[in-house]
Amino acid sequence: MAVTKPHVGLVGLGTMGAALALNIAEKGFPIAVWNRTALVARNFHAGAGNLADRIVPTETLADLVAAMAAPRAIILMVPAGKAVDAMLAALAPRLGPEDLVIDAGNANFHDTNRRAAQGLPFRYMGIGVSGGEEGARHGPAIMAGGTPEDWTRMASVFRAIAAKAEDGTPCADHMGPDGAGHFVKAVHNGIEYADMQMIAETYGVMRDGLGMGTTQIAPVFARWNEGVLRSYLVEISAAVAAAFDPVTGGPILDMIVDAAGQKGTGRWTAIEALNLGAPIPVIEAAVMARNVSARRGERAAGEALHGPAPSRAEVSLQDLEQALIAGKILCYAQGFAMMTAAAGEFGWALDMPAIARVWRAGCIIRSAMLNDMAEALSQDPTRNLMLAPFFADLLRQTTPALRRVVAAGALHGLGLPALSAGLAWFDLMRTARGTANMIQGQRDFFGLHGFQRLDGLDRPHGPWAPS
Ligand code: 6PG
Repeated sequence: MAVTKPHVGLVGLGTMGAALALNIAEKGFPIAVWNRTALVARNFHAGAGNLADRIVPTETLADLVAAMAAPRAIILMVPAGKAVDAMLAALAPRLGPEDLVIDAGNANFHDTNRRAAQGLPFRYMGIGVSGGEEGARHGPAIMAGGTPEDWTRMASVFRAIAAKAEDGTPCADHMGPDGAGHFVKAVHNGIEYADMQMIAETYGVMRDGLGMGTTQIAPVFARWNEGVLRSYLVEISAAVAAAFDPVTGGPILDMIVDAAGQKGTGRWTAIEALNLGAPIPVIEAAVMARNVSARRGERAAGEALHGPAPSRAEVSLQDLEQALIAGKILCYAQGFAMMTAAAGEFGWALDMPAIARVWRAGCIIRSAMLNDMAEALSQDPTRNLMLAPFFADLLRQTTPALRRVVAAGALHGLGLPALSAGLAWFDLMRTARGTANMIQGQRDFFGLHGFQRLDGLDRPHGPWAPS
């Protein structure tokens, strides 16, 4: 059957690109596809089953452009960085001013800002897409940047292919101009790192503190997934812990090397938070922990010299669950506060409840708690989540357990950097009279940097200053 000439095209038929192209075709949008190796596009088309008649495989970039009807919307699913710039340069002479190129990779939002400002001869949009291969195929969460006009133009496609929240709302929305979509995706990934790290820390307490075997740990995560912690990441942690290795017959988790990979999005979030002066210590701790995890040799030398964790910990599984709930709230409170800071800094009208709603389904950090976060943020979008009545209550209930878990970790030599960082931030944030008066005194003492007085008197220096 002849295909209507598509308005939508896709470049890059790797795992994610291929899944996204099938999703788009399945939702009724004809799509032209191109891959650097032409055979890949041909094979993709041949394997597309009953969706093949909506897919136009093309051999060259020129073919791709020719196969599409104007105005075109070409989605790039190529590795972030140089490959995107190379594709934009290759497309520049072939596209018209009303054609739109959409970078759907994990771009650094500074790159997206730069590309949007560089005067490309076509329209340009950066979108954050989350959910892995499964999400791309059956419904990702989509965080779109770019102009409102381009969002309006693409909204029907994005909403059709996106995951749907339990109330049926598509998890696709416009975050703001330029790199705003990629920025929100980076924060999503920072939170993803933190959620994963805190789950790994509770796993470590069960394994090394309580001496539980992997097969005993799996049902604990499965149980947690039925309560307040219901989320994709807790669900897959249960599945990972429950899976067996066909080679040894034992739990596969016990065979996996304890060094985490990373492509950089968590680090970008931490760097950006430092630039913004926005405290996100749980995410920073998670990035740090991945970096430490990679240093296996040094860790082994450390254990040989300083000895393993001294003794078993006295922690209940209920405390661990409560600690994870508290840590999660604190981490998200930091992430949303960082986005509020970014909105002020970059002049973006980031819609916090809308972001929480987009994250409710499809993405890696999807969880039941995001419904309550969306609700709390719609009451007051800039109020820190730890101050919202619902979460303040939950923190009152769960922070005592977080204290016990962190204290047990410290006493028994179990590193819990993300949970500890969450607790330390919480304690700083609930202390009206902090300790920075000492810092200000020190700064003035050695550098005459001045300070403000509590009584408002205009005496900016201490008695140590020369008069
Ligand atoms: C998503 C994920 C995804 C990310 C991987 C790997 O939202 O679907 O965030 O975009 O690339 O999770 O990230 P790391 O290699 O940095 O762990």
